[in-house]
Amino acid sequence: MKLKKIRRIGVLTGGGDCPGLNPTIRAITRKALKEKVTVIGIKNGWKGLIKRNTAILDRQAVSGILPKGGTILGTSRTNPYKQEGDLAKLKKNIRALRLDMLIAIGGEDTLGVASKLYKEGVNVIGVPKTIDNDLSCTDFTFGFDTAVNIATEAIDRLHTTAESHHRIMVVEIMGRHAGWITTYAGIAGGADIILIPEVPFDFNEVCEIIKKRHKTGRDFSIVVVAEGAKFKNEKFILKTEKKDAFGHVILGGIGQTLAAEIEKKTGFETRVTVLGHIQRGGTPSAFDRVLATRFGIKAVELALEKDFGKMVALKGNKIVSVPLKAAVGKLKTVNKELYDIAKIFFG
Ligand code: F6P
Repeated sequence: MKLKKIRRIGVLTGGGDCPGLNPTIRAITRKALKEKVTVIGIKNGWKGLIKRNTAILDRQAVSGILPKGGTILGTSRTNPYKQEGDLAKLKKNIRALRLDMLIAIGGEDTLGVASKLYKEGVNVIGVPKTIDNDLSCTDFTFGFDTAVNIATEAIDRLHTTAESHHRIMVVEIMGRHAGWITTYAGIAGGADIILIPEVPFDFNEVCEIIKKRHKTGRDFSIVVVAEGAKFKNEKFILKTEKKDAFGHVILGGIGQTLAAEIEKKTGFETRVTVLGHIQRGGTPSAFDRVLATRFGIKAVELALEKDFGKMVALKGNKIVSVPLKAAVGKLKTVNKELYDIAKIFFG
């Protein structure tokens, strides 16, 4: 069936929340209303489309949300391809709600579903969000800058207490299988060692760097470690054996293990801080608000042009569109060039 004009669009936020979701929802709504398009907010990611849990987004609904963290639409990690019957319900509800198209704001999982749905004939456009910054085809996702700022401030604060007590502080940082937040915050915070999933670490080398540093009079150290980092030739450290709805392992615990081992091997008193969900909460940075706004506007423009199956992306300082399939095909991990810069400051 040939679509005449886009009149009703659905918007959802899926996966882990991050700062910048509300500015995106606001931008989509404001731009769509200007174009006389109705916006239907879908609650709690794909789950809201399966259960037909929605609310109209008008000017009032998006008023005052620009500086707010989280998402006014709620989110979930529901995967409509997991439970038999869910996909059929989802498609039926798209028809029942008379949605001409969908804007899915999410990370690799939510946009992975969007990409599959597009292949099955659903009109969809993706907007990339995640603190992890691990989506391909975009230089940055929103949420990342805020998380880096939070982690950097934490490292700055830990520096003063580490120095006073002559301790080693191990800081565990989120990011799943990508070390972007850890590398950026580690460089920005002047960490003495930065450990990321992309480069399994040699524990003896880590201890040697710390011992050498302490011998030269710097008797405290900051070690930042990504939750997905691992000891050379060992497996990931998991919080639980359970997996999420998309089959991902749930990472966590490397900080604790590493701190205990460092203290045992070096004899230096060591403490651990797990930043956890603090990195995802609260108000978005100005950078993330602007990026989220630009992404939202571009998503509506693509919708009006009926240029579906695309994800909006940042390339240099330009907002472009890329095929959804390419964006979710491969994880974007930390490049050697950046990590080599980080390593110059080790010890
Ligand atoms: O993808 C964002 C993220 O915060 C990861 O960095 C982390 O591994 C995961 O989500 C945590 O998920 P949950 O919110 O389900 O604990």
